[in-house]
Amino acid sequence: MNFHTRKWVKPEDLNPNGTLFGGSLLRWIDEEAAIYAICQLDNQRVVTKFMSEINFVSSARQGDIIELGMKATHFGRTSITLRAEVRNKITRKSILTVERMVFVNLGADGVPAPHGRDRIRYADEAYERYRQTVQTAADATALAAANEAARETESEDASVH
Ligand SMILES: CC(C)(COP(=O)(O)OP(=O)(O)OC[C@H]1O[C@@H](n2cnc3c(N)ncnc32)[C@H](O)[C@@H]1OP(=O)(O)O)[C@@H](O)C(=O)NCCC(=O)NCCS
Repeated sequence: MNFHTRKWVKPEDLNPNGTLFGGSLLRWIDEEAAIYAICQLDNQRVVTKFMSEINFVSSARQGDIIELGMKATHFGRTSITLRAEVRNKITRKSILTVERMVFVNLGADGVPAPHGRDRIRYADEAYERYRQTVQTAADATALAAANEAARETESEDASVH
């Protein structure tokens, strides 16, 4: 499981008991999971469909640094299932676990659409895809410019003869 995001527990995140408010934690988890699903499925149109029971294992206090972890556990046809865990960054003590969070991949029409993925993809793969796309576009532009220059030279040559 990768723990990407760190949070610093501040006064505005506390409940009247002086510990981290569950609602704040759930908001952070839902956003982190959605970003994870978006990156895995390469689609901004994903929605939370289902969350299994949430286990608040232990509390966090003001000033604690916590980290949010995600892992894809199942790739369906249109859905992806994640496991989430939050822990104290320093002590590694578990704060929250969610065994199953299901996100659904939507098409432009808002209807569930197949995502075609079957395994976890890592950040450097996404960067490599982006880099190749940019390189292909740059190559195409350079090729078009070279072809245009060649055509201009040909027509100049034709007008000389
Ligand atoms: C997401 C939504 C479009 C799915 O509609 P639906 O009619 O359930 O769609 P489907 O029956 O085709 O199911 C889509 C996928 O979700 C899965 N799914 C549906 N209900 C599920 C449930 N209760 N638990 C787990 N997975 C479920 C299906 O198995 C399917 O996955 P698969 O294709 O990988 O097998 C619809 O339920 C919806 O719009 N919900 C509201 C989403 C929302 O607003 N979320 C909060 C804000 S992001």
